[in-house]
Amino acid sequence: MKYPRTLSSGANNTVIVLSDSEVGKLFTGDTRSEIGSEAEKMQFANSINSLVVEFKRLEFNEDLNAEMLVMERIYPFDFRSYEVEMRELWLSVFEDELRALHAAGFVHRDLKRPSSISGLSFDNILLTNSGLRLIDVGISALRRQIGDVIFEKYVEVELQEIQDFRDYFLNR
Ligand SMILES: Nc1ncnc2c1ncn2[C@@H]1O[C@H](COP(=O)(O)OP(=O)(O)O)[C@@H](O)[C@H]1O
Ligand SMILES: [Mg+2]
Repeated sequence: MKYPRTLSSGANNTVIVLSDSEVGKLFTGDTRSEIGSEAEKMQFANSINSLVVEFKRLEFNEDLNAEMLVMERIYPFDFRSYEVEMRELWLSVFEDELRALHAAGFVHRDLKRPSSISGLSFDNILLTNSGLRLIDVGISALRRQIGDVIFEKYVEVELQEIQDFRDYFLNR
């Protein structure tokens, strides 16, 4: 289904424009993710640093009959407009912030799309005028919910994906 003011659709959900500064991620009956859990994980990450896009509020959109997670709107641009030295700087900040999230008990888990799914491989990492930002905490996990053993496994996978992103981001 096409919604008015659609901005973009990812692997599962559609995001619509609300204003210059806000977007809403729609959760309809056919999306598998759970809005309350996504909101909680986003707020947790926001409490550590500003790598993950800022959570604003939950709303019910009467017109669309859909639950909506309202967040800060970000305006991504293409990293290929910037020299590799700039990209290196953004990457090092990104890596530090992501490690800080890991240390605090948050793992994103969706940096890289499985190669079986079509689309851009790193579409949850966006370059903005304030550096790299992360969206989409739909399958993120908190250490306190999943326990140390599983959490450490997820972090191990994520560290490899950071390497893959580094190769991608610096070599195009
Ligand atoms: N805060 C945001 N600002 C601007 N665009 C966004 C924002 N959040 C998501 N998007 C766009 O919407 C798409 C889908 O959002 P996402 O949270 O990744 O959902 P999905 O779980 O379907 O992948 C993203 O790939 C991106 O293009
Ligand atoms: Mg996504």
